[in-house]
Amino acid sequence: MKPIRKVVIPVAGHGTRVLPATKAFPKELLPVVDRPLIHYVVEEAFEAGIEHVVFVTGRNKAAIEDYFDHAFELETSLKEKGKVEILEDVQSSVFQPGQMSFTRQQAPAGLGHAIWCARDIIGDEPFAISLPDVIVRGAPGCLKQMVDQYNQVGGNMIAVEEVPREEVHKYGVIAPKSTDGRLMEMSGMVEKPAVEDAPSNFSIMGRYILQPEIFALLAKTGKGAGGEIQLTDAMAELLSQQQFFALNYEGESHDCGSKLGWMKANLAFGVDRPEFAADLKAFAKEL
Ligand code: G1P
Repeated sequence: MKPIRKVVIPVAGHGTRVLPATKAFPKELLPVVDRPLIHYVVEEAFEAGIEHVVFVTGRNKAAIEDYFDHAFELETSLKEKGKVEILEDVQSSVFQPGQMSFTRQQAPAGLGHAIWCARDIIGDEPFAISLPDVIVRGAPGCLKQMVDQYNQVGGNMIAVEEVPREEVHKYGVIAPKSTDGRLMEMSGMVEKPAVEDAPSNFSIMGRYILQPEIFALLAKTGKGAGGEIQLTDAMAELLSQQQFFALNYEGESHDCGSKLGWMKANLAFGVDRPEFAADLKAFAKEL
C-alpha cells in the first residue's frame, strides 16, 4: 500500500459567504485567534505525516504563497528588537524547500475541477484533500485519524460528521451501508441533496483520501449541483469500482467560510488557548 504523502488544498474560491471581509485578501488568510485558517489546515496535514502540499490557487491568492515563506525584513527587525518568541511564531509557518507546489484553476468551475487541476503534480499515488474553509478541533486531528485508518484498510476514505437534518442541503451526504466502529461502508453519496432526498444526515466535512483513479473520473464528470463539476459525483463513481470508507471522525469541524462559523471558531479556538480562556469565557457569559 502506497503511503499518503501529498495533500491538495484548493484555494481558488472567492469566499463569497464572508464578503466584504475578503474583498482584498484571500479568505484562507482570515485569522482564527492569531493565525490564518490555512495555517491550521496545513498543520493538521503535517501532523498526519504529509510531506508535500499542493495548492490549487487562483488570481489574487499570492499572499498565501508569501505566508509560508520567510519575511526577511520583519524577521530581521524582530531579531534586532530581541522579540524571540514572536520571531519563532512567525517562522513556524515557513515550509522546507521543495515542500509546496502551486497550480492554477483559471475559472471557478467547481471543487471537482479544482482537484483535477492537481493531477500532474499528484501523479500515480493516493493523496489527501483538505478544504481550507474547514478547521477541525480534535486531537489527533481529522487527517491523522484518517491516515491511521487508511494504513489498516487502504482504499478511499472521506471524513463525515452528523449535521442537523435541515442542513444537509449545504453538503455532500453519504448513504451508509454497514458500520464497524467509526468506519462505515457506503452504498452511495450525493452532493447537496434536498432534505427529503438525503440518504442520511452524515455530511462530507472536507477531508478526503483518494486513489489516483479519481482523476480519470473527474476528467469525464459533467456539471452537477450548482452547475459545477463536483468532486462528490466523481467519488460516487469511484465507489462503484473501489473500496470506499467514510470515517465518523472524533472532533468538531468549524466552517470558517461562513460568518457565523468563523465567529464561533474564534471563540472555540480562543478558549483552547490558556492565555485567553478565562477572559473569553467571562466575556461570553457577560454578553
Ligand atoms: C464542498 C463539497 C461538499 C462538502 C463541503 C464541506 O462544498 O462539495 O461535498 O460537504 O465542501 O464544507 P462547498 O462548501 O464548497 O459548496
